[in-house]
Amino acid sequence: MEIITKPSRYYSPLRYPGGKAGLSKYLSVLLEVNSIHQCRYVEPFAGGAGAALNLLINEDVDSIVINDLDKHIYYFWYSIINNSEDFIERVEAVNLSVEEWVKQKQIFTDPNASIFEKGFATFFLNRTNRSGILNGGPIGGMEQRSEWKIDARFNREGLTERIHKIGLYKNRIHLENKNAFELLSNIDLKNNYFIYLDPPYVNKAKDLYLNHFTKDDHILLASFLNSSKHLKWVLSYDNDEFIKKLYKNRVCKEFNINYSADKVRKGKEIIIFSDNILQC
Ligand SMILES: C[S@@+](CC[C@H](N)C(=O)[O-])C[C@H]1O[C@@H](n2cnc3c(N)ncnc32)[C@H](O)[C@@H]1O
Repeated sequence: MEIITKPSRYYSPLRYPGGKAGLSKYLSVLLEVNSIHQCRYVEPFAGGAGAALNLLINEDVDSIVINDLDKHIYYFWYSIINNSEDFIERVEAVNLSVEEWVKQKQIFTDPNASIFEKGFATFFLNRTNRSGILNGGPIGGMEQRSEWKIDARFNREGLTERIHKIGLYKNRIHLENKNAFELLSNIDLKNNYFIYLDPPYVNKAKDLYLNHFTKDDHILLASFLNSSKHLKWVLSYDNDEFIKKLYKNRVCKEFNINYSADKVRKGKEIIIFSDNILQC
């Protein structure tokens, strides 16, 4: 089966460099082929959690675990899950201007701001920054002289619909702000888990995410996954020889990805399977 990367719908309110909503159709078939029903689906590197939300809202899985080490990403998810209606009011009312961008950028780094304020600032910067990169600049620049302006990716109606929808599923979404290694080490095998991992890229991750992975982290993750005989997992990565070597004893397939944050990385990625998963 071809691994298609175009999602039928987007449910995540976040724009994410390398977002994997497009893998959800494939993951849904993979779950079906492996007779994994009503599972708890875990994303240890969730970011925008596009695939997780698609699978949940399409009822392919019973519940999802969204984990990300990035505190700001966690604040965002925490706020929309626990306070979705207040969040929607803010989305509807916020000014889409460079002045507001400067204000939100200050809140983003203010240690005294509340979780909700920081969660909203994260969302605001994600929707108004170039390619959604949190430490980047606003779309259109500070001077707003280009054709695309700061509001180009801030469709209030579409975004509030997504946030409202996620709020409806709050009891089936489990949120964590852990190091992926800690999360993985504590998975209880008695539960019906399925894990999809999308770690930071080997190349370029430093420019894209606030938390990137070192070479040692990639090695550690491989040694953890390669030796875990009972976890059911799939893993996606950049198509990189170093990674392929780390997983040389696992089945690995290439797939195409539409990637907007960085033209250089447009192209093929790889997906790697645990031995106890039938691939399709
Ligand atoms: C490739 S992105 C995930 C994108 C996601 N699949 C999506 O569709 O939006 C990798 C994510 O891993 C997070 N991350 C980096 N190091 C981590 C760690 N040690 N534990 C958990 N999350 C981590 C980053 O903050 C980033 O959000």
